[in-house]
Amino acid sequence: MRRLWRGTAIATMDGGSPWGWIPDGALLADGDRITWVGPASASPPDQAADVVIELGGGVLLPGLVDAHTHLVYGGDRAAEFERRLQGVSYEQIAREGGGIRSTVAATRAASDDTLLAGAIRRARALMTEGVTTLEIKSGYGLSEHDEARCLRVARAVGTATGLTVRTTALPAHALPPEYEGRADDYIDAVCQWLPRWHAEGLVDAVDAFCERIAFCPAQVERVFSAARSLGLPVKLHAEQLSDSGGAALAARHAALSADHLEWLSDEGIVAMAAAGTVAVLLPGAFHFLRETRLPPIARLRAAGVPIAVATDHNPGSSPTLSPLLMIHLACTLLRLTPEEAVAGITREGARALGLADRGTLRPGQRADLAHFDIDHPRALAYAFGQHPACRTWVAGQETA
Ligand code: NIG
Ligand code: FE
Repeated sequence: MRRLWRGTAIATMDGGSPWGWIPDGALLADGDRITWVGPASASPPDQAADVVIELGGGVLLPGLVDAHTHLVYGGDRAAEFERRLQGVSYEQIAREGGGIRSTVAATRAASDDTLLAGAIRRARALMTEGVTTLEIKSGYGLSEHDEARCLRVARAVGTATGLTVRTTALPAHALPPEYEGRADDYIDAVCQWLPRWHAEGLVDAVDAFCERIAFCPAQVERVFSAARSLGLPVKLHAEQLSDSGGAALAARHAALSADHLEWLSDEGIVAMAAAGTVAVLLPGAFHFLRETRLPPIARLRAAGVPIAVATDHNPGSSPTLSPLLMIHLACTLLRLTPEEAVAGITREGARALGLADRGTLRPGQRADLAHFDIDHPRALAYAFGQHPACRTWVAGQETA
């Protein structure tokens, strides 16, 4: 099936010119692949297509790639939010056994069907703002059985929605209560679980939380070694609340990405640049935890570290389902340019997942598209809290 999209501006985000801007563009795809993109004046004739999609204005962009989410969990943490607003810190709540652990209890208690229904509802909300590829982490099961359940649910979200879902195993997210005082034993167990999940086809990448309230670099190193021996790529929640050298550790393991990074050091930046590790910035968590220390954007830029932006949807630090709001906050809070922020959740988001076949609009790429009723893509950064009409196509097919 050959489809021709026209009657729209196009932002290819392919890095050649600002936005890859084509004021009056057309795009042709054969099946799931883009075969031609350019100005309408040079477009292939209608007869070259089986279907012509007349867009009537607006801007066509690559489908958004949300490269960091924790979409599968039970319960919520609204009461914890109220406590934080009264001055109790995120770290303090975690140390009291709340925080991630409270979501672990709710997740373990939830049925597969409940987890799946919640995750599908959240994925559909992301789709209404242009998401066509989604990373979903485990990390609220923290047992072999419950982490595997969450990863299966994540896979099922892909089947139910048609989105590409990349699953990331995050058993080293927090220490489960049954391992209290035995963090090294827990890491031993995690290293035994990974091959079994991998054998079941549940894991596309492995993540960990390297932080004083989670796991130390030596423990993360062991998880990474186990992942790498299975041929699985790694990524890391690094330098969110303190500098523990996580980003450099991730880079030593050729990590796809290091995420958060408010406390990232120069050494970490150099290591990430050398390894090609993407910096995934999470303005939702920065905002919701009322952080004040900015990730070192100017130094990341100067070092040529690719910068992605993601929602980090999770119940504790970023309960947002709005990638467009993340584009806005990436600009206002983190000081990215609108073009960097949009590239961060398209081209660089794809890079953070190791997906070379999407995130830009050019021949050979998957026809994953998002069309917004706006005049220019900078409007995605500008009009915060608005919901421009949006249509998406995954591998050439319009999503429901
Ligand atoms: O990406 N930093 C660790 N993990 C999540 C938050 C988890 C939670 O609070 O439930 C994050 O911010
Ligand atoms: Fe996260």
